[in-house]
Amino acid sequence: MDIKAITSVLFLLIIVDVDGAWSISKEEDMELEKQLKILNKPAIKTIRTDSGQIFDCVDIHKQPSLDHPLLKNHKVQVTSYVIYQLILHRPLKGKGLSGFGVGCPIGTVPIRRVEKEDLIRAKAFSKLHTKAYAENCHPLADGPIHLSAKLAANDKQIYGVASILNVYKPTLLSPDQVSGSMIYLSTGFGDDSKSVVSVGWAVNNSKTTGCYDILCPGFVQQSHEFALGRTFPGSNYNGSQIDIKVLVSKDSKSGDWYLRVNGASVGYWPKELFRGAFEVAKEVNWGGEIFSPRQPCPPMGSGHFESEGIGGACYISGMRYQTAAGGYFEDIDPELQALVDSPHCYNVSMPSYLSEITGYTFLFGGPGGQC
Ligand SMILES: *[C@@H]1O[C@H](CO)[C@@H](O)[C@H](O)[C@H]1NC(C)=O
Ligand SMILES: *[C@@H]1O[C@H](CO)[C@@H](O)[C@H](O)[C@H]1NC(C)=O
Ligand SMILES: *[C@@H]1O[C@H](CO)[C@@H](O)[C@H](O)[C@H]1NC(C)=O
Repeated sequence: MDIKAITSVLFLLIIVDVDGAWSISKEEDMELEKQLKILNKPAIKTIRTDSGQIFDCVDIHKQPSLDHPLLKNHKVQVTSYVIYQLILHRPLKGKGLSGFGVGCPIGTVPIRRVEKEDLIRAKAFSKLHTKAYAENCHPLADGPIHLSAKLAANDKQIYGVASILNVYKPTLLSPDQVSGSMIYLSTGFGDDSKSVVSVGWAVNNSKTTGCYDILCPGFVQQSHEFALGRTFPGSNYNGSQIDIKVLVSKDSKSGDWYLRVNGASVGYWPKELFRGAFEVAKEVNWGGEIFSPRQPCPPMGSGHFESEGIGGACYISGMRYQTAAGGYFEDIDPELQALVDSPHCYNVSMPSYLSEITGYTFLFGGPGGQC
């Protein structure tokens, strides 16, 4: 129960506990109470998971993402974009929402309860990284150390990506580090404002929380079962493996970008969110990323290099994309670019074609250290 699924526009999470080095005044405390009242919507039902997380079942039309200023006039799409285009002899096999479901009633969506502690951390963090936080909720990119080992498809027109993410639980060295795996789609460089959609998992060491949950609203949930930010277990090194199947695709009619996990529809990023518009992804990355305020850096993936193969190193498989709007998901062109920031800490293999069912798979990660 240490891993967390995250998705967000403009990237993901993270909020940091700065070694408890903050204090808040009475005024600040009152301000936080006020914020909590705004953030936490009235619950139709409240669910506590086995691991102690609290989820409120909130009316789908009153979910907190709608507080986003760009979604003022947004009408929630309650039915999902139906993706017929998966190649039929290779359907995305999934275990449904098992592991993510919390059992909210139909007409509601599960929203993780924001606690005062989350806000205090967010505040402490934003004092350190005001720029990153305020401007784009992308503290990963603005931290002192941000390293990745990934594969990139450039100079393509991509309307959707489907892949299977192997999930691990890299051991962090301090609560303010982050390590995860993700798929990242963006409009690429060259535009005034870059639009990004990113999906993946990252370690929850109980001192981090999703910026999605608190400060980056915008993803509209449709599923009454799937709970963003729900913790779930990771794979065992050389043992049982845990995968999640992720699909992001643009609905060419509405212009919204839809997310499916394990074959089930989760929700969408409304087109209004993308100030610079998001017609097509010209930059797509798959791989691992770490963030650390200092050396040594945490492990990435399973903590082992790609040379250990499946079971030893973390993988992403079933790599497919849509190169036409609303078109078929086809195997990727394996001519991808490897981008590795610190090869003695983390590295990445090129994709290899394993089978018709699995398609292309690559491995990434490493132990970290002095990077
Ligand atoms: C992380 O996991 C711990 C233990 O399972 C849980 O208590 C905590 O609420 C989780 N944190 C978040 C942000 O989900
Ligand atoms: C994991 O499996 C690989 C390949 O079978 C083996 O070389 C390695 O020693 C194993 N490692 C551990 C810690 O069991
Ligand atoms: C990754 O690093 C390991 C350990 O140094 C090495 O054995 C392997 O060949 C490297 N792989 C690539 C693709 O560089």
